Order: sequence, then C-alpha cells, then structure tokens
Amino acid sequence: MYIARACFHNGILQYRLLCFQQLNNNLILWNNRSGRSNNYCKSAAQNMSTLRNLIKPPEAVRGMTVLDKSKFDTPVTVPFLNIKDVKISDVIPFMKKYCLKMQHIKPLQSLVKEPHDNKHTGLLLNPGIINIWTDIDNCDRDALQKLSITEADLSTTNITIKYENFLANDVFKAVLPSENEGFSSFSQVGHILHLNLREHLFPYKNLIANVLLDKIPNTRTVINKIDIIDNTYRNFKNEVLCGDHNMMVKIKENRCEFEFDFSKIYWNPRLSTEHERIVKLLNPNDVLFDVFAGVGPFSIPAAKKKCVVFANDLNPDSYKWLNHNSKANKIDPQYLKTFNKDGRDFIISDLKLNLINYINKHNVNIVMNLPALAVEFLSAFCDLYDADEISEIVNPPIVHVYCFAKGENYEQIAKDLVFKNIGFDINDKIINIFKVRTVSSFKEMMRVSFKLDRDILVSSISNKRKQDESILDDEISSKRCCHINKEDGNEASMISVPEENYNV
Ligand SMILES: C[S@@+](CC[C@H](N)C(=O)[O-])C[C@H]1O[C@@H](n2cnc3c(N)ncnc32)[C@H](O)[C@@H]1O
Repeated sequence: MYIARACFHNGILQYRLLCFQQLNNNLILWNNRSGRSNNYCKSAAQNMSTLRNLIKPPEAVRGMTVLDKSKFDTPVTVPFLNIKDVKISDVIPFMKKYCLKMQHIKPLQSLVKEPHDNKHTGLLLNPGIINIWTDIDNCDRDALQKLSITEADLSTTNITIKYENFLANDVFKAVLPSENEGFSSFSQVGHILHLNLREHLFPYKNLIANVLLDKIPNTRTVINKIDIIDNTYRNFKNEVLCGDHNMMVKIKENRCEFEFDFSKIYWNPRLSTEHERIVKLLNPNDVLFDVFAGVGPFSIPAAKKKCVVFANDLNPDSYKWLNHNSKANKIDPQYLKTFNKDGRDFIISDLKLNLINYINKHNVNIVMNLPALAVEFLSAFCDLYDADEISEIVNPPIVHVYCFAKGENYEQIAKDLVFKNIGFDINDKIINIFKVRTVSSFKEMMRVSFKLDRDILVSSISNKRKQDESILDDEISSKRCCHINKEDGNEASMISVPEENYNV
C-alpha cells in the first residue's frame, strides 16, 4: 500500500510516497520510495530522531504505572545487508553510518532468515536512512561492489526491539500521558539521580525511577524532591524512589574531590561552571572570603591554587564536610580557615579582622552564594570600619553576590536588589552583572560583582548614604518588578538539567 506522507524538509512542505506493508504483524519500515538523490544526507542527530520516530514502543504501554518490560517488545522489519564472505573490517569503516544504532543491538548479525536456510551474516541498517539500494551513497556502493556486494544483497529482516533497546526518553514518551508535559530532566549527583516531579507525574514516579535506574549509567539511587527548598541550609527533603538508600556521595568538580551526605547539605551540579568561573579569576596569593561556602566548591579549588581562603557555612554538616574535603584534597591548613557561623557574624567579625591585613596588598574576592538571601547580608559591609581603622583603598575587594531575579529585566532587577540592600546607588562600583543560569521561565540566577570600596566600608560617608536613601527608595520601588520572597528560595523549578548531558 502506498500512501502520501507530508513532511517538512528544510522548511518546505514535501510529500513522500511511503510504502507500508503489514506482514506477520510487523510494521515494515522499508521501501520509502522518496526517489531522493544519493547524496541525500542528514546529520547523525536527524537520523537518530527519524529512527526513534519509526521504531517506538507499542501503544499498549501508554499509561503503564508498574514497569512491565515484556510489553515493550516491538516487532519490526529493517533493512539487512548480506555481507557474505567479506571481512567485516573492510565494510564497517564506510557502512557504519548506515547501521541500525539502538542500545544493546549489534548491527552485525548472523541470521537464519527462512526455515531450512543457511545463516546469513550481514548488517542491520537504519530504516530511517536506507530503504533502497540507491539510498547508499554512490562511492559507498562502488566500494561495496568491489567487495562483490550488490543490490541483490540488500533485503529486509524481522527483529524484535525490546525494552533494553529503547532509550529512557523513548520509554517515557510512550508511557506518559501525551496531553501533559512529559518527563525530561533530572540532576545527577554522584550515584544519585535527583528528580523534581510535577504532580501529574506522581502516579508514574516508580516507573520513571526504575527506568532511570536501568538506563542512566552509574545510577544506584533515584530520589524525588518532596518539599520546597525553604530551609536555612538549602538542602532538600527527598523520598527514595528506588535503589539503595545510601546518600553518601563522592564526586569530582574542578579537579577536586568532594564527599558529603547529600541529604544534609546543599549541592547543585548545575553550578559547577560557575564555581570554575570564579576559581579561574583567582591567582595564587589572592584572598577569598566565601561567606556561604557549603562543602567548599569555591573554597577547596581556590585553596588548592594557593589562595588564602576564609570559608564559612552555618550548616554544621556543611562545615563538617568542608573540613573533610579540605583534608581529602590535601589542602595545606595555611591556605584554608573554616568557620561555622551565620554569614553576618562572619562578615562583621572574621572578615573584618582579616580583611585589614590583606587589603591593598593582595587581590581580595568575597563570594556570597545564597541567592535567595545573600543580598540581605550586604548591609553588613556598610560602615564595617571607622575612618581611622582603614587606610586609603587602592585595590578594593570584589564582592560577587548572587541573587534570583524574577521578571523580564533581570539585570536591572539584580542591580536594584544590590542598591537597595547596600542603601545607595553603587553604579560606579559595578564590575559585572552576569546571568548564571535560568532557573525557570522569568527567573534567573544572577551574579552581581562590584567593588567594595571606602564609600561602603567606612562610616564617614554614611551621611551621604542616608541622603541618597530617600531618593533611592522611591526610584527602586518603582523600577522593581518583583523581589525575593520565600518562594524564590524554592529551587523546585530549578531542576532542569541541560538535556544534552543526559540521554533520557
Ligand atoms: C546555595 S548554598 C551554596 C553553597 C556553595 N557555596 C555552592 O556554591 O554550592 C548556600 C549555603 O549557605 C548556607 N547558609 C544558609 N544560611 C546561612 C547563613 N545565614 N549564614 C551562613 N551560611 C548560610 C547553607 O548551609 C548553604 O550551604
């Protein structure tokens, strides 16, 4: 039976003639009589997506909530190239681009195609690419012919695609209700896969977890976030959906090892590039104050670089693992001092005391990564010193403060949050306003980097600040579209793994 299929190619609506046959209940993915030219070439990604559209799990799995792998058996007919007595190494180099590529399927097969027939050795080909002999490029056909492989050697064969052969995403597309947003993302922290399932997926949570456990390499535990991240220590409450309950994680980031109990501390693998960006700014002998250090993703690599680091975190578990990671990475204690206090106390005591020794002589950076609240700690820098306590500042410390900006003009929102909390307009001190990552639609994680100069640190200018404050209050409140509230601390919507990292 020939039917016409409409499809878009290069933005042009085209009709393709397809020949479908139903044979032994197998869908024949063969005989696409498109008459396209031999050098019709698609990218590997396009080929994969064509293949995945052609070979899907049966419709019967739709709505499955308990994983039954046998229901995924899908009989298909695919092109088969008989390669007779030819050495496979002579054929593979130029034919591998046409081969059927699915998980756990070897394209080279020895098949008995008909009862009482001999075994045929040949290649399973991708029905999304090869339908007729002339779908093989001219030069490749010539090469085949030199090996005595001709059009007569191209036929079809029936195979059964099983659960093991489908990618997780193929399974989810087939099982989950098509009318709602599907499942596409998760975070991976060591052996733990961390999901943040939306409510409509709750009935499928065990199936989703089991598929991920089967399909995502190095996974031993799958957990789902069950609460918003509104607690002080920014760690999540989770339920273990499947796998072992061990929450101890060991991972590598920025050439350092980190070990921690994921159920007790904050760790976000999506911040690794940001950690790296900041660490790259630092040179040996620079000084870093890490006000909300966690288990040390800024501090440990910086100290390893021989920067002098003062790292603080309020969470006793973060503090414990910060110290553990310092030892595990053989950090010389002269480069890393750790503190377990509230960020404000740390600024007004330890930072104040130590900054005075390093200012002007070293480059000093202050990193404040607690995006839901960090801007509120900026006021701790204001009037930190009396005028006679600190000399001229020729090389001011740089503060990198993170915040969430919700709204369209996120740079302005981030800047306003900083001005508001410092108490006056510091436009002249801003070095950079940087979008770290998109948390969800209209919510960005931002970094504002600015010079912490005498205007801010020394009380003698506080009068100027007070004068400015009344003007700023009006300006900022009219400009600001939104500001941080408790819900902004919810990283629920943050879970959107860069899909390219994970083949779900
Ligand atoms: C978003 S995490 C950042 C951790 C780490 N710097 C990173 O980049 O992954 C914020 C950290 O701030 C800590 N924290 C929360 N409130 C704090 C406070 N008032 N004072 C100091 N640390 C605090 C939390 O325990 C958590 O480790």
